[in-house]
Amino acid sequence: MRKPHKSYLEIAETELCSEEFAKKEDEQDELSKLRTEFVILTKGDIRNKKYGFQEKDNTMSREDDGEESIYFCGNSLGLQPRRTKEYVNRYLDTWASKGVFGHFTDYEGGLPPWLHIDDAIKEQTAKIVGALPTEVVMMETLTANLHLLMASFYRPTKDRWKIIIEGKAFPSDHYAALSQIAHHNLDPSALITIDPPSASSPYLSSEHILSIISHHAPTTALVLLPGIQFYSGQFFDVELITRHCQSLGITVGWDLAHAAGNVPLKLHNWNVDFAAWCNYKYMNGGPGVIGGLFVHERHGKVEQASANHVDGANGAAGNDRQLTYRPRLSGWWGSDKSSRFRMDNQFVPIAGASGFQLSNPSALDMTSIMASLDVFALTNMDALRQRSLRLTAYLEARLLKYADGKPPYKIITPANPVERGAQLSVLLNPGLLDQVQHYIEERGVVVDERKPDVLRVAPAPLYNSFHDIHRFITVFHEACRRAVKGAGAEEAGTHSSAVPAEIATV
Ligand SMILES: Cc1ncc(COP(=O)(O)O)c(C=O)c1O
Repeated sequence: MRKPHKSYLEIAETELCSEEFAKKEDEQDELSKLRTEFVILTKGDIRNKKYGFQEKDNTMSREDDGEESIYFCGNSLGLQPRRTKEYVNRYLDTWASKGVFGHFTDYEGGLPPWLHIDDAIKEQTAKIVGALPTEVVMMETLTANLHLLMASFYRPTKDRWKIIIEGKAFPSDHYAALSQIAHHNLDPSALITIDPPSASSPYLSSEHILSIISHHAPTTALVLLPGIQFYSGQFFDVELITRHCQSLGITVGWDLAHAAGNVPLKLHNWNVDFAAWCNYKYMNGGPGVIGGLFVHERHGKVEQASANHVDGANGAAGNDRQLTYRPRLSGWWGSDKSSRFRMDNQFVPIAGASGFQLSNPSALDMTSIMASLDVFALTNMDALRQRSLRLTAYLEARLLKYADGKPPYKIITPANPVERGAQLSVLLNPGLLDQVQHYIEERGVVVDERKPDVLRVAPAPLYNSFHDIHRFITVFHEACRRAVKGAGAEEAGTHSSAVPAEIATV
């Protein structure tokens, strides 16, 4: 049987489920103060059909319009840091008042010159994913980066040509892997999927994952897996799987969309070959903002070639300096800064992840990321993880205490805290989702749904509180009771989703 976090298990039900308890947990947690760094949308803001905020005057249509919403959707789109607007305004002012000089000049009180903005955020980025600063860069977007990385790391041979992904991979990863296979004129059967052994649970044990990898090892070129699975919230053992793959001669890459900014990672020490992530979920960089890329130090080297050989690597043709480096799809922004503007068509890759850049990055995106990273800099990933473990354990304990007997749902995220991040995925009994979702949305709860029956609830440790969880459970349990009784059927007839499933997919 599933058991919640031990310390919450030991607390008497009446105390655990009281509002006072949640408030006290918030008061005792030093990191609760970080919530003030974020704009928390109100219930009125969500109902407001006009762009922008609900006006805070007597035109308010409902009594609770001024109340903060209960936002548990940071696994889809993180909330906006308050400082983002200020940073973006500085970017806009620089662009407006300095034009092209904004690229090169370090203005007093401004942000770094756009030309160097990629370097300026490396150190903070590296801390979030456990890398050396040279191993990371913010560039392009997640799927584009997966393609760029596969262009470099997926080099099928007649002996090894398969890519292993999970059967329930995020569609973009599936399409990317399959199209890479097609790009090399290989048969789609080169795509191997790891599926859960049981149809009733999405859980993939490490033993199961390793055994599938071992089975296909002699013919496998690449394993591409998510750090945290988007649907189930399962946090895979990145270190163990990476080690296993590499012991079998397989390159391994990680999609960290749901892991970056959510759980501590040690990409360098875990010897991960490559990874990519987006910055709009737990990273709070804004919708569709520029993504992140990691290439391990040992793959990012740029070395002087010995006179007679540049085996398996690119040489800088026509250059008196013959260089060896990992093959890649290149662009001018990956080329050495000191010679980039000489326009001499000599590609001299920057050592490390930066050498994988193609275009000059959107300074607007980088500015937004900078604001978000400055919020992360107020704490660290280990402290954030400790808070996250408590928040998610509290959510779990409250979900398991359903006052009306057996809950009409079950949690499909692993019970072991080591195997999950912030998110809990709740599988409702068949036929309840629409009514439950409608009821909670009407009351300012923002979670996302996975048809046919799953709600994903993600208390983000930077801004969600224990009190948010208490408020969520109160509304959610009432929604479940009504849905079970069919009392919500009438309301569901007029269902207008605040976060349509199509939108809440990312
Ligand atoms: C696990 C995972 N992979 C890939 C993607 C696609 O990201 P993008 O649209 O930024 O390429 C997402 C989007 O949410 C995702 O969750």
